[in-house]
Amino acid sequence: MPEFMVVLSGAGISAESGLDTFRGQGGLWNKHRVEDVATPEAFEKNPQLVLDFYNERRKFLQEVEPNNAHLSLAALEKKYKVQIITQNVDDLHERAGSSQVLHLHGELLKVRSTLDASLIYPWKKDLKLGDVCEKGAQLRPHIVWFGEAVPLLNQAAEYCSRADILIVVGTSLSVYPAAGLSEITALGIPKYFVNPDIPAEAKGKGFTFIEAKASEGLPALVAQLMSEN
Ligand code: APR
Repeated sequence: MPEFMVVLSGAGISAESGLDTFRGQGGLWNKHRVEDVATPEAFEKNPQLVLDFYNERRKFLQEVEPNNAHLSLAALEKKYKVQIITQNVDDLHERAGSSQVLHLHGELLKVRSTLDASLIYPWKKDLKLGDVCEKGAQLRPHIVWFGEAVPLLNQAAEYCSRADILIVVGTSLSVYPAAGLSEITALGIPKYFVNPDIPAEAKGKGFTFIEAKASEGLPALVAQLMSEN
């Protein structure tokens, strides 16, 4: 039975594909206020501004490619059962070939009904006011905004509790509940943290640190894991 590996990824894994991270240099939250573009209240107050924010990111996502970090994680599936848990709303893990990807914070290439959250649709073009679901209600980005529940959290926690190996890559561990997932693994399993800039939140939690960009640090770690036992 192949070992069960869980990977918790954040915006940093997609940085080298050209997608902005949220914090740090050039981060999205340096250019936009969260309360203007990423909360239910923002969508209520100025839906066009929110739609424009996600339309711009959705369009740009379709112009970029997965990088070596995404590809190396996909290659791990040759030897391990791999569950990606990503905070990212891009589809780069899927495009790199990872087959099990759970999006904690939603997906940029999907939209959903504002009336019935179970009505979710693939969506690659701009989303406009007046675009409605089959029940006639306005569509919204299928994104978990600040202040909203994280519907897949329990599933993600269940995966982490069963992990034989944990890799955390490209996240500042700034946002809970996602950040707390890395602490609910079984005691003593190998835990790796890949980031060129190790945040204080990662210290003292039993991680082996790989201080490198994802596209360098992950392929090296994957090569090591593929050669083990
Ligand atoms: N390789 C690996 N890590 C990188 C790279 C890289 N090339 N470049 C930057 N990083 C790291 C940064 O050092 C930082 O720790 O990626 C992390 C990005 O942190 P954030 O921008 O905070 O992104 P993330 O942790 O994913 O944010 C979590 O916050 O705003 C919400 O919903 C949003 O899902 C997001 C959540």
